[in-house]
Amino acid sequence: MTDQRPITTTDAGIPAPSDHDSLSVGPNGPLLLQDHYLIQKMAQFNRERVPERVVHAKGGGAFGFMEITEDVSQFTKAKLFQKGARTDLLLRFSTVAGELGFPDTVRDPRGFALKFYTEDGNYDLVGNNTPVFFIRDPSKFSDFIHSQKRRSDNHLHDHNMQWDFWTLRPESAHQVTLLMTDRGTPYSWRHMNGYGSHTFMWINAAGEKFWVKYHFKTDQGIKNFTDAEAAEQTALDRDYHVRDLSQAINAGEHPSWTVQVQVMPFEDAAGYRFNPFDLTKVWPHADYPPITIGRFVLNRNPDDYFTQIEQAAFEPANMVPGIAPSPDKMLQGRLFSYPDAHRYRIGPNYLQLPVNRPKVPVHSYSKDGAMRYENHGDPVYAPNTAGGPQADPSLYEHESYSVTGELVRAAYTLHAEDDDYGQPRALYENVLSDTDRANLASNIVGHASRPEVTAEMKARVVEYWRNVAKPLGDDVAKGLGVNGR
Ligand code: NDP
Ligand code: HEM
Repeated sequence: MTDQRPITTTDAGIPAPSDHDSLSVGPNGPLLLQDHYLIQKMAQFNRERVPERVVHAKGGGAFGFMEITEDVSQFTKAKLFQKGARTDLLLRFSTVAGELGFPDTVRDPRGFALKFYTEDGNYDLVGNNTPVFFIRDPSKFSDFIHSQKRRSDNHLHDHNMQWDFWTLRPESAHQVTLLMTDRGTPYSWRHMNGYGSHTFMWINAAGEKFWVKYHFKTDQGIKNFTDAEAAEQTALDRDYHVRDLSQAINAGEHPSWTVQVQVMPFEDAAGYRFNPFDLTKVWPHADYPPITIGRFVLNRNPDDYFTQIEQAAFEPANMVPGIAPSPDKMLQGRLFSYPDAHRYRIGPNYLQLPVNRPKVPVHSYSKDGAMRYENHGDPVYAPNTAGGPQADPSLYEHESYSVTGELVRAAYTLHAEDDDYGQPRALYENVLSDTDRANLASNIVGHASRPEVTAEMKARVVEYWRNVAKPLGDDVAKGLGVNGR
């Protein structure tokens, strides 16, 4: 060979016989089964796809770091949140309802999934660009997602089905309001906030407990498309957000977010005016002002999409000492769901892949299984007298809290101001500008005007929005031509 290029090999490292020609009986003859290289190429190609994520299939991401600039040791002992800590991270953004090839710029919540490679193992914060969610019990998740995905009969997305679910479940109103504002069509991933959404528990070194919510405020400023701009961009470039992030990082424009937390003393929860664990509610800033604790930066693009982004496996159950779950029923459901999804989608040893494996030694007693890369050796059981690893329960001793009650299937008990429409109404009346309100109404009208949405459904849509705010419902009625308006 004239240049320094390496010789092609088979996947077993054997020099390949040809890059171009199969082994045949004469130039025109049939092919031979003994051409194991041809067979390897074809068989391997047939297995290139793993199942896509059942939700959040289309996305992209980048690597970076978080640095903590303020002292919050009075709230948590988690090492990654100590002042001066700098932790490597991966952030994957996504849309929710579409498939792998879906356009980036459609109206949908955006996933905001963080994996921190901490010195205590991986901490995953799997949030969205919204502080709340559509439902408050995990038993409704598959129903909700089915209403967002394609119909069984004609394989089409169906807005009638979406409004049917939303109007039957009024706890959706807060998230649907946020979704229907222009924040439902972000200009880019760089120009939107992220939220941990759930309430989590923080524990300090003295064993004191707090409830916490995470906010990641974009330093690039919020920027959204209008409905019309989003439609235009979708026609121009279906991968606009993947491209934007990749190009910005390549150009040295490293996007960053300010990390804030709202902290609630443990004892406040029972008497707080809203159920602080209800994922359809925020904690108003006036009650618990966000505290800035640091920032994170994305500064490195993946160099291989499949192994670093498609096979990335985020799991809300990955928490480190100093951080623990709250009783939020949605969070509790998610603790199970994600590792189960990964074992199916990627395989039981997904945590051994480079993007998922922690950057600290693993001393677990699990072993074997499909595609196992390495075992930890003997002893393979605990307890043992062979010097195997030993757990340190003291790291977790203060996470406990007292719970009593009958076994029931019931909604959360209501706190003083809990209702499904109050917080979206506050958003509409107190936060949105006149332009935001006008766009909200026209975005709803556009969404509910699709041909499959029936007249009966349009009337229910109007009712739903009148419950949020009478003028909004009236604007929607006018736009949809309901009640003769
Ligand atoms: P505040 O006036 O203190 O805060 C309102 C917050 O709303 C802002 O800080 C901003 O949060 C967010 N916001 C601003 N403009 C828009 C917009 N166009 N679309 C969506 N969100 C916007 O009021 P409260 O804390 O009492 O909350 C009032 C309502 O604001 C809530 O019911 C909720 O709907 C919404 N909201 C509240 C958040 C919270 O954590 N308290 C977070 C986001 C929205 P940010 O900078 O995080 O975007
Ligand atoms: C992805 C389940 C609620 C954010 C997923 C996946 C599942 C799932 C199975 C695919 C995982 C994979 O294959 O890698 C659930 C269930 C929920 C729930 C059962 C409720 C009970 C939420 C909420 C949020 C959220 C409330 C945000 C606050 C995400 C994100 C991803 C995701 C960002 C993509 C993660 C990535 O980038 O790989 N969810 N989800 N989900 N979910 Fe949820």
